[in-house]
Amino acid sequence: MTSPLEMKYTEKKLKGKNFLTVADFTADDIEYLLNRAVKIKKDFQAGKDFEPLAGKTLGMVFEKNSTRTRISFSVGMNQLGGNALIMNPDELQIGRGETISDTAKVFSEYLDGVMIRANSHAMVEEFAANAHIPVINGLTDKFHPCQALADLLTILEVKGKFDGLKVAYIGDGNNVAHSLLLACAKMGITTAIATPEGYEMDQNVASLIQKEAKQNGAELIQTNDPAEAAEQADFLYTDVWVSMGEDEEKEQRLHDFKGFEINDQLAANAKPDYTFMHCLPAHRGLEVSAEVIDGDHSVVFQQAGNRMHAQKALLSALL
Ligand code: CP
Ligand code: NVA
Repeated sequence: MTSPLEMKYTEKKLKGKNFLTVADFTADDIEYLLNRAVKIKKDFQAGKDFEPLAGKTLGMVFEKNSTRTRISFSVGMNQLGGNALIMNPDELQIGRGETISDTAKVFSEYLDGVMIRANSHAMVEEFAANAHIPVINGLTDKFHPCQALADLLTILEVKGKFDGLKVAYIGDGNNVAHSLLLACAKMGITTAIATPEGYEMDQNVASLIQKEAKQNGAELIQTNDPAEAAEQADFLYTDVWVSMGEDEEKEQRLHDFKGFEINDQLAANAKPDYTFMHCLPAHRGLEVSAEVIDGDHSVVFQQAGNRMHAQKALLSALL
């Protein structure tokens, strides 16, 4: 547990920082944010006001669809006493060719922080390199760090610890997998990932996860066999087989991912008290069966709710 002095230090250290990937934060930073999220959630449920962002505005740009990210950031900002401004890139001058760097500088004149959901991770990096306000990644083709923060909070709520756990991710080696496995490795959780051949994680990200896991006494298991990944797992996690921007590959992907559905038969390989997680949106009958996602092992709506609590901790620390 972090000491009060270390908490103060971390709080100061995080002010003004970006959150583009889980790699931006140390394990101590993450532990601090999770402790903060637990307190913020508890106080909120007890009806206590916490409004450290009064007078502050978060800008939000969505190049892709969103339900959870859009709502949890907007409502979270309101609850923290601030405002959120949602912007459609087609209605900004960026849609008519204004450069990302000019846009980032202009945003910095008005806003206290910005959250971006972008097609390419490079866009968010370019924006952050030119902005003078904290930039938060609300999902790119490569990473989904806010989801990973909420996932860790959910794992902590279910198990009360990270030590000795195994999280198995079954499906596409995508943005969600990258952030989840990196976050777990940082916290010393052993992870296993099973993907069809050709859908493995980005090799550089996998190496980083491997390195972090080793440093923290954990392991990363990479396989093409879902049953092997699920073996004795505490958590089974999956995401869509066709991410936003991949619709043209839909038919091929649905063919290639056959056998990767998390259903009762696959879940029989995990611990009997396993927990099912999914970042949502979900497709019953594809990556997960209805009996699993709607059954007793599933915590997907608690997990979705935790997006807001985890992000309130993040926003109040960075802005
Ligand atoms: N999990 C997640 O990011 O959901 P949205 O796409 O609805 O924001
Ligand atoms: N991998 C999915 C996550 C959606 C929250 C996507 O990028 O579409």
